[in-house]
Amino acid sequence: MNVNGKSYRTIWPAVHSSDTICIIDQRQLPHNFVIEELTNLEMAWRAIRDMHVRGAGLIGATAGFAMHLAALEAQEKTFTADLEAAGKYLNDSRPTARNLGWAVDRILQAAAGVDTVPEKRRIIYATACRIADEDAGFCRKVGEHGRAILKKISARKNGDPVNILTHCNAGWLAFVDYGSATAPIYAARDAGINVHVWVDETRPWNQGAKLTAWELQQEGIPNTLITDNAGGHLMQTGKVDVVIVGTDRTTHTGDVANKIGTYLKALAAKDNNIPFYVALPSSTFDWNLDNGRDIPIEIRSGEEITRVSGVTDAGTSESVWIAGRDTIAENYAFDITPARLVTGLITERGIVEANRESIHALFDDMQRQGDHHDISPPI
Ligand code: MRU
Repeated sequence: MNVNGKSYRTIWPAVHSSDTICIIDQRQLPHNFVIEELTNLEMAWRAIRDMHVRGAGLIGATAGFAMHLAALEAQEKTFTADLEAAGKYLNDSRPTARNLGWAVDRILQAAAGVDTVPEKRRIIYATACRIADEDAGFCRKVGEHGRAILKKISARKNGDPVNILTHCNAGWLAFVDYGSATAPIYAARDAGINVHVWVDETRPWNQGAKLTAWELQQEGIPNTLITDNAGGHLMQTGKVDVVIVGTDRTTHTGDVANKIGTYLKALAAKDNNIPFYVALPSSTFDWNLDNGRDIPIEIRSGEEITRVSGVTDAGTSESVWIAGRDTIAENYAFDITPARLVTGLITERGIVEANRESIHALFDDMQRQGDHHDISPPI
């Protein structure tokens, strides 16, 4: 997508060497556009854990390239063990995003399919590139399917702007390109449909204020930043036509993990009879968890709540206290929206109801692994 009129992906191998992986350091947006180079596993792990890169699809793509960097570092004699250890290390960096484990497993499987270390290194790099390309392709297709929803609403409104509310950043910055929640918006704009986006600021890390508003502005999509708590009011007063959010992990039964606060938007949407869609590539489905209650929820540093960071008028980056210094804060990064509150899942294969039967019917070729027992009552 566009940054100052130039097309970028969020991650790519450097032109001078595929042993260097370039990312956009998202901690610096929207004030500074900084490209960072990752040259070893440790740097890639930090980039994921400290949120230089974030969002399900991009975490997955970064994990793929991180495994490529790990393969370059691995010893010939202990190659497979070193690679497996790297996979475990990466898996712990962000626990909720499903794409991370999915990408690591895919790399390990690809490596296991060939014999020599040079062959393994070659196939690992090719698989990492494929994961990134597929992510972009999946998101483009999510956009094509989701566009139909916005087209229908636009026709009902005789071409007046379709007002979409989104939470956090499930835009192209959260993937390799296009995004999931934003892909239908970009596709609708390209088809000449009038759109306007309500952007939740998304405390505490403010991905909406810092990332979604910026990327929509770069693409020329009309958007308005609102506080997280404004969504219910806007829905009650007829200012929201549809909610589209992303997801970090969705069970094969349709329960959705997404940035904290998503559940409350889904409740408000239900109460106001507003469609609530979740957009995702199939790489975000968890085929082993039957119940959203069992999705691991990342708990991050309380300082993300007690402090806030930004840029002064003089252009200096600063982090300041907003709560008293002794305040105890608990920082849950994600919540679960039960399937019953979801109108539909927008995937690369089409739009599907959020339940086991419909999801399995559309993705009947996707393998589930392990035992599958419902271990807790429905959420
Ligand atoms: O903590 P983050 O920024 O990695 O969280 C991910 C998100 O931005 C959202 O939860 C998003 O809506 C889903 S990821 C495509």
